[in-house]
Amino acid sequence: MADRQPKIALVTGSSKGLGLELVRQLARSGVITFLTARNEAQGKAAQATLQQEGLAVEFLHMDVTNLMSIHAAANHIEQKHDKLDILVNNAGILPDEDSESNGLLIAPDIVRQVFETNTMGPLQTSQVMIHLLRRSPHGKIVNISSGMGSLAEMDGGYPAYRISKTALNAVTKILAYDLQDSAITVNSICPGWVRTDMGGPNAERSTEQSVAGILPLLLSNEPGPNGQFLRDGMPIPW
Ligand SMILES: NC(=O)c1ccc[n+]([C@@H]2O[C@H](COP(=O)([O-])OP(=O)(O)OC[C@H]3O[C@@H](n4cnc5c(N)ncnc54)[C@H](OP(=O)(O)O)[C@@H]3O)[C@@H](O)[C@H]2O)c1
Repeated sequence: MADRQPKIALVTGSSKGLGLELVRQLARSGVITFLTARNEAQGKAAQATLQQEGLAVEFLHMDVTNLMSIHAAANHIEQKHDKLDILVNNAGILPDEDSESNGLLIAPDIVRQVFETNTMGPLQTSQVMIHLLRRSPHGKIVNISSGMGSLAEMDGGYPAYRISKTALNAVTKILAYDLQDSAITVNSICPGWVRTDMGGPNAERSTEQSVAGILPLLLSNEPGPNGQFLRDGMPIPW
């Protein structure tokens, strides 16, 4: 019975880039999807773009560093749909000061700022949404991480971003452990190097290609992988 209900999804930071494409492909797949953004005007403009494509997506204002806005979003979803099936923690930042720095020079305040969005954002969004995900028969938390957070491939440059994504991978493992007796799975995804504002114009993949490698995990009704770090559905080194 529960399986026949439409799925409900929320994607953080989805007014552009990978997040917007995730919303588009989820909505095309018949999932009732919440496009969320910290900038209300940009979020509504993105919603209008998808509506012009014939996709009925819902918009919620949400800043992943603002706990009140996360609670407000959760309350709205609870009142309207009573559950959440898919949470994609996609919002992320990579400040210019970090791109051009290294571990010896990076200002601690930049590290804190990036950590607050890229690591604390997914952790506190998951905490606030968990009661809604528990009401799903196949709850999924997908943390959009990065190969730059892989300890096995740790390299120079982007120190704050790397630290935040390594810690995000720890969040994935910890939540997967703490939810092992539930129907919820938690995984980290590397989307590859993607042509977005963050990835730049020379990146290898389009957003469409990248999201096509993530969608099967989001839509699956099987338990599937849990506590893993995946790219295109295949495990990659932590
Ligand atoms: N592009 C790549 O090659 C690549 C590779 C590996 C991993 N990733 C990861 O993929 C995810 C999406 O990145 P992208 O390439 O699509 O970058 P993007 O185009 O820069 O989009 C990032 C999105 O996150 C939002 N955001 C930032 N801080 C936020 C906050 N506090 N609350 C809510 N939303 C916030 C941004 O909103 P604003 O417009 O308001 O800033 C924007 O919508 C990120 O987690 C990134 O680390 C990207």
